Parts: sequence; structure tokens; C-alpha cells
Amino acid sequence: MAQKITIAIDGWSSCGKSTLAKDLAKALNYIYVDSGAMYRGVTLFAMRSGWINNDEIDELQLKTALDQIKIAFTLNQSGNPELLLNDENVEDEIRSLEVSQQVSKVAAIKEVRNFLVDQQRRMGQSGGVVMDGRDIGSVVFPNAELKLFVTAEPEVRAKRRYHELKEKGQRVAEQDVIDNINERDHLDANRSESPLIQTEDAVVVDNTNLDREEQLEKAKALANKYISE
Ligand code: DC
Repeated sequence: MAQKITIAIDGWSSCGKSTLAKDLAKALNYIYVDSGAMYRGVTLFAMRSGWINNDEIDELQLKTALDQIKIAFTLNQSGNPELLLNDENVEDEIRSLEVSQQVSKVAAIKEVRNFLVDQQRRMGQSGGVVMDGRDIGSVVFPNAELKLFVTAEPEVRAKRRYHELKEKGQRVAEQDVIDNINERDHLDANRSESPLIQTEDAVVVDNTNLDREEQLEKAKALANKYISE
């Protein structure tokens, strides 16, 4: 039996990490966990509760209510995970620009991170998992056998995210998408709690000039070095 390893994928906003993590998990028959979706779910809960106004978060209310938030994943017909917030499928809503504009602030709250990191560790405790996010290799799974740090030039990332939102039928201005990516990168890399870092043992995958297949092939070759028969 092949050994089941843990694969941590971190990187900047909209750099293609989720696509890579999803493709790699399918290729290896592993579980894929999108940790960013979990932060987005908590953000949506706070927005719906009226705790985020004029970019200000009522942190106390949110911290006190964390035990009322149930985050889980369900698989859709294509086998891709979709987020359940208290049993409601909110996959489309959490991808909106409105949620994207608030999520980095929610993700900077220590109690929110502790709450979600605990669940992420439980999801990955038996190995055979590909998890993507910002602190997976540094905090969630510091002992992961394989850590990838995905990056791409900022203009390429902005264009990809803009087209993705447009394809989903969302009416957004390209400049708003660019501003959002820049702002999130800044907040994610400069917060005091588990900022986005590239760990020393991570392998960099720059996909500026790689297509989906090529980046998967690269990651598969790296993973296969650690997966012993
Ligand atoms: O990967 P994403 O863009 O869906 O993530 C949404 C936000 O959540 C991102 O701006 C930073 C935060 N995040 C985080 O702080 N830690 C993670 N492990 C994953 C996401």
C-alpha cells in the first residue's frame, strides 16, 4: 500500500492554489480541503448577523458566537467540495467580491483562527490530504511531507480572478478585483497571527507561464518522491 502523505499548499490570493490542490487531490485520490472557504464561511456568518459594518467587525460578538458556527464540506456531482454553513450550501455566496472584501480581516482574528485550525488538523489527521491556504505549511501541518508555495505574477492573478468571477455571472470591475487582491495579500502577509510566509522547506511553484496540466504534472512529480510504495 502506498503511504498516504500530507500535502500543504500555500500562496498568494488568486494564484491558482485551489485549482492545483483540487487537481492533485483527484490525481492521488486524496481528500482536498480548501481552508480559505472555511474563513469565508465564518465571514459570511458575521456579515449575515450584521456584525460587519463600514469595514468594522464586532469582534466580541463573533468570538462569542463561534460555537454556533458549523462548517462542513459536501461533494457536488463533479466530486468537488462545496461549503456548508450550518447545513446550508453557501458555495456561491462565499465566492462573492463582498465576502472577499471582508475575509482577510476576519481571518486575522486569533480566536477565529484557533477555531478553524483545530478543525483543519482533525480533517488531516490520517494523512492522504491536500490542504490549501496561507498557514498550512507553517501552522496547521508544520510536519507535512510536502509543502508547496504557489505564486504567479500579480497581473496574471488579477486577470484570472476577474475572468473567473465574470464567468460565474458576477458583475465586477477589473480594477476592484485588482485592488482586492492587493489588499488581501497585504493583510494576509502582515497580520500578527499566522501571517502568510514561505517556509524554508517549501518548494516554490511559479505558474505564471504554466497551464493547469503543467502545474499538476510538476506537483505530481514532487509528491511521488515522498509517496513510497
Ligand atoms: O484562499 P482564499 O482566497 O479563499 O482565502 C480567503 C481568505 O482567507 C484569504 O484572504 C486569507 C484567509 N486565509 C487564511 O488566513 N488562512 C488560510 N489557511 C486560508 C485562508
